[in-house]
Amino acid sequence: MPRTVLVLGGSSDIGFAIARAYAGHGWSVILAGRSEKDLARNRDDLVTRFGTSARTVPFDVLADPLRVLEGLAEFPDTVVCVVGLLGDQQSAQADPGHAASILRTNFEGPALVLGEIANRMMERGFGTIVGISSVAGDRGRASNYVYGSAKAGFSAFLSGLRARASHRGVHVLTVKPGFVRTAMTAGMKLPPAVTAEPDEVGRAVYRAAETTRRNVIYVRPVWRLIMLIIAHIPERIFKRLRF
Ligand SMILES: NC(=O)c1ccc[n+]([C@@H]2O[C@H](COP(=O)([O-])OP(=O)(O)OC[C@H]3O[C@@H](n4cnc5c(N)ncnc54)[C@H](OP(=O)(O)O)[C@@H]3O)[C@@H](O)[C@H]2O)c1
Repeated sequence: MPRTVLVLGGSSDIGFAIARAYAGHGWSVILAGRSEKDLARNRDDLVTRFGTSARTVPFDVLADPLRVLEGLAEFPDTVVCVVGLLGDQQSAQADPGHAASILRTNFEGPALVLGEIANRMMERGFGTIVGISSVAGDRGRASNYVYGSAKAGFSAFLSGLRARASHRGVHVLTVKPGFVRTAMTAGMKLPPAVTAEPDEVGRAVYRAAETTRRNVIYVRPVWRLIMLIIAHIPERIFKRLRF
């Protein structure tokens, strides 16, 4: 029997690239998300390209995030949460509603659904959970601290969950992609040396989750060094920086 991966956020460029990486290794794929049209397009592509079994399930992380679990015929071997919202920092500063959407989409919703999935996997005795977090969570910056703080919370949640679940046969991987060329970053000027393509993220996630069983990865390793330096800038200097 092929193993099954559930991708929460299966309409996104990164989610679809991860789905392709798993399908390429013979896995069955379940794509979850809000847009049935986008999910169906990705599902059909997976079936045509890889001859794999693929299906879709409705999922909104802000509206009853656990409902997605009721629509599953069998519980997946691996669950990847790609859901996220970059939002707009300026708008979030002025509009608590927008700030709440960013905080809830990147932290609260993913944490609630992955927490419940982890409980079920621990009961079963095996499983893998992958959370797509961000280097933005390694230190809050003036230009995107609402998104960054939500990702920081998500990274901390995954860290604690990993420590708890590792004793019960469940592996938890945290992924910090760095810049990736996707719909989310369309129109931004991204430095090519530190910008990954979605398929690079897909391959890195598959390898780290299913082969090398890593705990935390930066897709381009240089990001670990960049964030180490940024994390060590003294606060009295950091607060004067505008980036
Ligand atoms: N691109 C980058 O440079 C970069 C860097 C670091 C981390 N990341 C993270 O990587 C992940 C994927 O990002 P991306 O670049 O591929 O951008 P994206 O296309 O904007 O992906 C965001 C995904 O989240 C889903 N989503 C948003 N709100 C949702 C909700 N309420 N319920 C269910 N799904 C929801 C979107 O679904 P809809 O299609 O329904 O909106 C989409 O599938 C995100 O978590 C992002 O924070 C991206």
